[in-house]
Amino acid sequence: MTVATEDLFIGAISGTSMDGIDLAVLRNGPSPAIEAGHTAPFTDALRNALSDLALGRVQDLDALGAAHAALGDAIGAAILSFLRDLGLDPSQIRAIGSHGQTVRHRPQGDQAFSLQIGDPNRIAERTGIDTIADFRGRDIAAGGQGAPLVPMFHQALFGSASTDRAILNIGGIANLTLLSKSAECPLSGFDTGPGNTLLDAWVEQCMRQPFDTDGAWSAGGGVAPTLLKELAEDPYFARPPPKSTGKEHFNLGWFEPRIAGFDPRDVQATLAQLSADTVATALLRWGSPRGEVIVCGGGRLNHDLMQRLAQALPDHTIEPCETLGLSGDWIEAAAFAWLAARHIARQPGNSAEVTGAAGPRVLGALYPA
Ligand SMILES: Nc1ncnc2c1ncn2[C@@H]1O[C@H](COP(=O)(O)OP(=O)(O)O)[C@@H](O)[C@H]1O
Ligand SMILES: [Mg+2]
Repeated sequence: MTVATEDLFIGAISGTSMDGIDLAVLRNGPSPAIEAGHTAPFTDALRNALSDLALGRVQDLDALGAAHAALGDAIGAAILSFLRDLGLDPSQIRAIGSHGQTVRHRPQGDQAFSLQIGDPNRIAERTGIDTIADFRGRDIAAGGQGAPLVPMFHQALFGSASTDRAILNIGGIANLTLLSKSAECPLSGFDTGPGNTLLDAWVEQCMRQPFDTDGAWSAGGGVAPTLLKELAEDPYFARPPPKSTGKEHFNLGWFEPRIAGFDPRDVQATLAQLSADTVATALLRWGSPRGEVIVCGGGRLNHDLMQRLAQALPDHTIEPCETLGLSGDWIEAAAFAWLAARHIARQPGNSAEVTGAAGPRVLGALYPA
C-alpha cells in the first residue's frame, strides 16, 4: 500500500479531561499541516459513563461494552458532521486515526495494559472511512509504556535546528517532549504528572464547575507549603523516564485524605503550584536548562497555571502554541491522524527512546471502510 504525500487524515481523541471529542484534519507530507480542528461535546450521559469507568466507580462489563459502542457511534457522528461543516466528502479522507477514551492505563509490570474504548468498527461503519485504532497496545507488548505517542509528531511539527524546544501539553495529565537542536540528541518525552486533572476534580467537588476558568479560583488562594511538599513527594515525580501515568493514580482520592483543615481555595492554589512545579522540575532535570517551551492543551488557557510555570522556569521562554501559528487545541488529535498515516505506510509510530519499547513498531490495527 502506498500513501500519496498529500493525503488527508482525520485524528480523533478524547483526552483524560473528558471535555469532548477533539478532531483534526491533517494534510500529511514531509511537512505535515493541520488544516482544521473541532471539539464535539459529549452528552452528559456519555461523559458520566466514561468518567465512572475511568475512575473505577463502575466496574461491570456490560457498562464497559455499552460505553464502547456509544462512544464509537459518537466519534463516527462527530466526524461526519465535522466533514459536512468543512465541505469535505468522506471519500477525500484516506483514514481516521481514533485514539478513543482511555478507561485504564497500567503500563507497569508483567501484565501491563492500556485500555481505550470507542468501537472502531462502528466508526468505520458509520463513516465509510478506513479506521485505525488501538495505538498503544503494540508498544506495550514490546515492553514500552504505550505512551506518550505524540513526541514523534511533535518532532515533525515543531523540530528546530536553531533552538532547544520543549513541547508541553497540559491536558488532564501533562506531558513533555524534549526536542534538541542537536540532531545527535535522542528524542525524549514523558508524562510529568497532573496537568489539569486535580484542578478539575477539586473545582468540581467544591464549586460544581467542570474547570477553574482562567485559573481565577486558584489565583486567589495561597499555596500551603507543607501540603505542596507532601504531594510533591509522590515517587512518580522523581522516577526517571520512560514513564506515563493517568487518572487511576492522580485523582481526588490521591490528595483528598491529606487536605483536612486546609482552606479549599488554598488547596486549589497548591494543586496548581504542584502541576507547575513538577513540570518545571522535570524539564530542568531531564531537559534543557534554557530554551523555548511551547504550550498546547487546555491548560495553556489557565492564566494562573501559566504564571506559576513562568515563575518556576525563569530562564525559559514560555509561549502558547498559537505563537507559531498553530492552535493548541488540535495538536493531539492531529498526532493520531499522523499515526494513522504511519500505520497505512507501515512505518513505526513509537519512539523506543520515549516509551522504552524494545524497538520501533507499527502501531494500531486497521478496520477497513
Ligand atoms: N479557559 C480555561 N481556563 C482554565 N482551564 C481551562 C480553560 N479551558 C480549558 N481548560 C482546561 O483544559 C482541560 C481540557 O484540556 P485538554 O487539552 O482537552 O485535555 P485532555 O487532553 O485531558 O482532554 C479542561 O478540563 C480544563 O481543565
Ligand atoms: Mg480534551
